[in-house]
Amino acid sequence: METENTMTINGIEVGFTPGETILEVARRNDIHIPTLCYLKGASPTGACRVCVVEVKGARNLVASCAAPAAPGMEVLTESPKVVRGRRLNIELLLASGQHNCLVKEAGLDDWTDFQLEALESEGHKDICPAYGDCRLQDLAILYRARSDRFPTAEVRYPVENINPLIVRDFSRCILCGRCVQACNEIQVNNAISFGYRGKESKIVAKGDQPLKESDCVFCGECVQACPVGALVPLSDLEQCGLREEAEKIRTTCSYCGVGCQIFLHVRDGRVIKATGVEDVGPNYGSLCVKGRFGNDFIHDEGRLTKPLIREGDGFREAGWDEALDLVAGKLGALRQESGADALGVLSSARITNEENYLAQKFTRAVLGTNSVDHCARL
Ligand code: FES
Repeated sequence: METENTMTINGIEVGFTPGETILEVARRNDIHIPTLCYLKGASPTGACRVCVVEVKGARNLVASCAAPAAPGMEVLTESPKVVRGRRLNIELLLASGQHNCLVKEAGLDDWTDFQLEALESEGHKDICPAYGDCRLQDLAILYRARSDRFPTAEVRYPVENINPLIVRDFSRCILCGRCVQACNEIQVNNAISFGYRGKESKIVAKGDQPLKESDCVFCGECVQACPVGALVPLSDLEQCGLREEAEKIRTTCSYCGVGCQIFLHVRDGRVIKATGVEDVGPNYGSLCVKGRFGNDFIHDEGRLTKPLIREGDGFREAGWDEALDLVAGKLGALRQESGADALGVLSSARITNEENYLAQKFTRAVLGTNSVDHCARL
């Protein structure tokens, strides 16, 4: 039955709210449509045309991420025409730059041969640092796209590797615009935009300067949004080549009390990078520069991992029992001598709410004073 706000997707009647796109209606009804340039929370650009669908009565395939649902609309998401259209768009994207992950060879079981071939491929000497974590590669495999159907575009701009933390490889940029949207619409930093025209198109920072000379604050939102290997953390390049899968462990960022949810990527017991957990509050995938790039302190050799007790002008290492006994004894003696209000506890804005709760509980219930505060620098 056709009513004002219903349409059909693959023959199934679904309702929609005016203003919803075809993609949003499909996703709400668990109907999968692949996307590439679409960035949740930002306005759709329709740049990649991977999300195309067939709409009855329309002359061409329609980008579902940008097209509003309409009453009576009949949509097909996996017709032969749609699959052919997506494959063509993916092949054009593959030809737009150096995507030497050799997706045309997908199906090789022997990873060593695969990787050696990639290392010997023309252009880049190294396999893409996004290998195995690349949306374009995933789609190319899914749609059996070939990377040799169209001539590869020439490399116009050199790799920008003089920035702290982030490397920009323009030869792998597919100009999907996700980084621009992430910077301008999600983080609202407005540090990058599209520059030049046609074949010369490029994502530029102010004055086409390197990121480090621009307004970029290195939050890395663009890196997380990049679906290919065009924006990578500097640390990832050190993992480049025959890299193994890292385990992703979800945790809470330890830098402040906001409680941002992060994935720590751990390999061989070492944190190699951090990414934001998407679709979960309070940060919904966003991180600041410290949360995303400031986790190398975990393995810093100068980090204190054992208590130190002052002796004379220096310190000596001690066990936890000895250190805690010493502190408890001194606090007890001070309270005995001068009363509980002679004591106070400085906690930290950079620990969790739970830890701050325990700190105030200890101060009030154990020490017997209300002198508890926090210091933002601790
Ligand atoms: Fe819709 Fe790119 S995801 S056009």
